[in-house]
Amino acid sequence: MPFLQLDNVSTHFSAGSGIFQPKKQADVIKAVDNVSLSLEQGEILGLVGESGCGKSTLSRTIMQLVPATAGNITLDGQNLSDLPARQIRQKRLDFQMIFQDPYASLNPRMTVFSTLAEACRQRHPQLKGEALQNHIDQLMLRVGLDRRFARKYPHEFSGGQRQRIAIARALAPEPKLIIADEPVSALDVSIQSQILNLLIQLSRELQLTMIFISHDLSVVRYIADRIAVMHQGGIVEYGGAEQVFNHPEHPYTRKLLNAVPALPSVDA
Ligand SMILES: Nc1ncnc2c1ncn2[C@@H]1O[C@H](COP(=O)(O)OP(=O)(O)OP(=O)(O)O)[C@@H](O)[C@H]1O
Ligand SMILES: [Mg+2]
Repeated sequence: MPFLQLDNVSTHFSAGSGIFQPKKQADVIKAVDNVSLSLEQGEILGLVGESGCGKSTLSRTIMQLVPATAGNITLDGQNLSDLPARQIRQKRLDFQMIFQDPYASLNPRMTVFSTLAEACRQRHPQLKGEALQNHIDQLMLRVGLDRRFARKYPHEFSGGQRQRIAIARALAPEPKLIIADEPVSALDVSIQSQILNLLIQLSRELQLTMIFISHDLSVVRYIADRIAVMHQGGIVEYGGAEQVFNHPEHPYTRKLLNAVPALPSVDA
């Protein structure tokens, strides 16, 4: 059985029910429509598609932040649709997110230490003193941050270092699945590859399963084992990364690939 499995998952929103539109005109937005895919533990799925195609909604649906309208999501053998609300809250620790803008997602008033301590305690509420310190040292080491930076605040770091803090925070609750939504889109090109390499390394070392969302196909090609191409809420193409890049089957995938001016070599 795959580690993460989605069977015919849909997330529909009703639109047009705001104050400016009478309810009878309400339409349905099929943000995610009949999506099926599966992922093995430790694999990185690249989720690509143009703005508004439903990438973020799909990730929020997997994380149980928005309810699926239909379908089943199974993680590590457990059907998430069956879980009561209380258990979902606990289960959410298994999913962590990394966002595009680490500055916006980090609390400016908290040092790296307090940010990571708070995240560690979500999983281990009793953790304190030396044991907590060791945990935080380990996390900082994993993401390539000097432990002497622990007492600093987010504004004292560069963009790439801030993204490393955000990655350490995502790792702290010991998640099973990481969803990274455009995690390198706001970074300089030179820093992008460092962060991509870090994510690849973490996925290998920790057998961490990842969904990597990006509109940038060259970035996705670099990092992903599998690719899902999303278009208007549905997955139009799904397969091994090299297969999708070298032998795209769907016209929409070909259109996306043709829109990429040049792809850097994979071992860059
Ligand atoms: N809570 C909501 N209520 C109504 N419509 C929504 C809601 N959330 C998302 N949508 C709609 O669902 C569609 C998919 O949005 P989503 O944010 O998932 O796209 P995306 O692929 O992540 O886009 P981007 O690349 O710009 O981040 C859009 O039409 C959006 O307006
Ligand atoms: Mg989005």
